[in-house]
Order: sequence, then structure tokens, then C-alpha cells
Amino acid sequence: MISFTNKLTSSSFRVFFTLLLLSCFHVFGSSSPAGQKEADALLKWKASLDDQTQSFLSSWDGNGHCNWTGIICDKSTSVSRLNLSSSGLKGTLHGFNFSTFPKLTVLDLSSNYLSGTIPSDVGNLSRLTYLDLSSNYLFGEIPASIGNLTNLLILYLYKNSLSGSIPQQIGMLKSLNRLALTENNLVGFLPPSIGNLANLSYLYLYSNNISGSIPKEIGMLGSLEVLYLNNNSLIGEIPASIGVKYPRRF
Ligand SMILES: *[C@@H]1O[C@H](CO)[C@@H](O)[C@H](O)[C@H]1NC(C)=O
Ligand SMILES: *[C@@H]1O[C@H](CO)[C@@H](O)[C@H](O)[C@H]1NC(C)=O
Ligand SMILES: *[C@@H]1O[C@H](CO)[C@@H](O)[C@H](O)[C@H]1NC(C)=O
Ligand SMILES: *[C@@H]1O[C@H](CO)[C@@H](O)[C@H](O)[C@H]1NC(C)=O
Ligand SMILES: *[C@@H]1O[C@H](CO)[C@@H](O)[C@H](O)[C@H]1NC(C)=O
Ligand SMILES: *[C@@H]1O[C@H](CO)[C@@H](O)[C@H](O)[C@H]1NC(C)=O
Ligand SMILES: *[C@@H]1O[C@H](CO)[C@@H](O)[C@H](O)[C@H]1NC(C)=O
Ligand SMILES: *[C@@H]1O[C@H](CO)[C@@H](O)[C@H](O)[C@H]1NC(C)=O
Repeated sequence: MISFTNKLTSSSFRVFFTLLLLSCFHVFGSSSPAGQKEADALLKWKASLDDQTQSFLSSWDGNGHCNWTGIICDKSTSVSRLNLSSSGLKGTLHGFNFSTFPKLTVLDLSSNYLSGTIPSDVGNLSRLTYLDLSSNYLFGEIPASIGNLTNLLILYLYKNSLSGSIPQQIGMLKSLNRLALTENNLVGFLPPSIGNLANLSYLYLYSNNISGSIPKEIGMLGSLEVLYLNNNSLIGEIPASIGVKYPRRF
């Protein structure tokens, strides 16, 4: 009799715990602990943005962040893509915790009203292949840490108010296919390290105030198809090395 009661108790406990577990998964929308960290970080960033932006992000409400506007997760419920292009976002990137998204491969925040500087923590997004912050109101320098994003294929920072010179670390982005920094206030020399970008097809730098001569290393860009350097303060000759691969356009 006693043993029967015990069995009953233990099996009802099992049912109870199963229900408890199920209700947990229901509440958190199948987020793993790492996923929950990402959801918290996203909510923190949302809270730092202006009120109108927060109402645009009304789907960001704590239930299963993989289903939120602009977010795509991988199988482990880690954020792999964040695309809020043309979403009327107003605010800065400073409330965004770049250290919380180890699986992020695509970050597209183009065509918004983001202002402030590009935090150097952006260099912590080690898996990033696509970074588009174009057509915003970002100012300050391009952080040197951008050179740590060695998996980048696409880097678009055009149409902002970025100043300072192009960091020499840009040459560390060995996989880069497209680089567009046009329509900013960039000054200084075009770093010779640009010649390291063996896979670069598109190099758009027009409408800045880049000075000095065009480094001869530009001739090392064996994959270059399109090059725009117009409307800068470049001087000197067009390096003969550039003719080796005959880019289609200038
Ligand atoms: C995702 O959101 C849509 C509406 O935005 C809803 O219909 C759907 O049930 C949600 N899916 C999950 C798994 O929460
Ligand atoms: C982001 O979404 C927009 C449309 O909402 C789309 O045009 C764009 O290609 C997307 N970006 C990426 C990197 O997929
Ligand atoms: C950012 O996220 C990392 C990893 O999740 C965490 O250790 C750190 O404390 C967070 N930073 C802030 C400012 O919340
Ligand atoms: C993030 O980047 C900063 C430099 O901007 C660095 O000091 C910090 O250690 C990085 N954090 C992680 C978790 O990689
Ligand atoms: C970038 O890498 C360098 C070492 O190569 C390291 O010192 C620096 O902290 C890294 N920065 C970020 C933002 O990860
Ligand atoms: C450059 O592109 C080629 C062909 O697409 C690819 O095989 C190679 O791995 C790329 N190199 C780098 C450093 O990404
Ligand atoms: C040249 O670039 C400056 C910014 O450096 C911009 O204000 C101006 O409109 C550009 N001119 C042309 C003709 O594109
Ligand atoms: C461009 O930079 C040069 C110095 O390199 C400066 O004399 C000139 O005024 C700048 N032009 C603009 C439009 O800012």
C-alpha cells in the first residue's frame, strides 16, 4: 500500500515537472539560455531607441525573439541575421551589445535615422559576412576594429557623415568583395593596405575628401571590376599598375 502511494506520488511529480517544463518553453518561445541572452540584449537596445521606433518594434516583446521583426535565427535559436533596413529606426548603436551575437552573419541597418558613432565593439561580431550601415547619420571615425571582421564579404558605410581617414586595418578584410564608403567626409590617404583585398570586385570611394596620390598597391586588386574615386582631393598620376587588370570603369 505504502509503495503504491509512493509510485503514484512520484509519477504525479513527473507529470507536474513535465507540465512545468512545457510551460517554460511556451513562455520563452523555445529560446535556449544563449538565445535568451540575445533577446535581453535586443530588448535593451530597443529601450534605448526613440519612442516611435519602439512602437515599430512592437513584435519585440519577450516572446520568442526568433519570430520578431527583422530577426532570423539559426537552429540553436541564436540570431543569425538582423535586417531592419528602411525601418525608420532613430537612435544610436551604443545600446547594442555587439558581444552578445556570436552567430550573427548579416547586419543590415541601412536607410534609417541612426546617429552617433560606430562603436568599436562592432569588431566583436566575428562571424559577420555582411555589414550595411549605409544611409544613416553616423559620424566619427570608422573604428580600426572593423579589421577584425575578417569574414566580411560586403561592407557598406556610404551616405553617412563619417570623418577621419580610412583605417589601414581595412586591409585585413581579405574576403571582402564589395566596399562602399562614398558620400562621407573621409580625409587622409587611401591606405596602401587596400592592395591586400585580393577578392575585391567593387570599390566605391567617391564624394569624400581623400587626399594624396592613389597608392600603386591598387594594382594588386586582381578581382576589381568597378572603381569609383571621383570627387575627392587625389593628386598625382594614375598608377601604371592599375592597367594590369583593366578595370571596366573609373
Ligand atoms: C510568429 O508571429 C506571427 C505573427 O507575427 C504569428 O502568427 C505566429 O504564430 C508566431 N509564431 C510563433 C512560433 O510564435
Ligand atoms: C533587408 O531587407 C530588405 C527589404 O526589407 C531587402 O531589400 C534587403 O535585401 C535585405 N538585406 C539583406 C542583407 O538581406
Ligand atoms: C554584453 O554581453 C556580454 C555577453 O553576453 C556580457 O558579458 C556583457 O556584460 C554585456 N554588456 C553590457 C553592457 O550589457
Ligand atoms: C569587444 O570589443 C572590445 C573592443 O572594442 C574589447 O575590449 C572587448 O574585450 C570585446 N568583448 C568581447 C566579448 O569580445
Ligand atoms: C581586434 O583584434 C585585436 C588583435 O588582433 C585585439 O587586440 C582587439 O581587441 C580586437 N578588437 C575587437 C573589437 O575585437
Ligand atoms: C576569394 O574568392 C575565391 C573565389 O570566389 C574563393 O575561393 C577564395 O576563398 C576567396 N578568398 C578569400 C580570402 O576569401
Ligand atoms: C562632392 O563631394 C562632396 C562631399 O565631399 C559633396 O558635398 C558634393 O555634393 C559632391 N559633388 C558632386 C558633384 O558629387
Ligand atoms: C579637402 O581637404 C583639403 C586638405 O587636404 C582642404 O584644403 C579642403 O578644404 C577640403 N575640402 C573640403 C570640401 O572639405
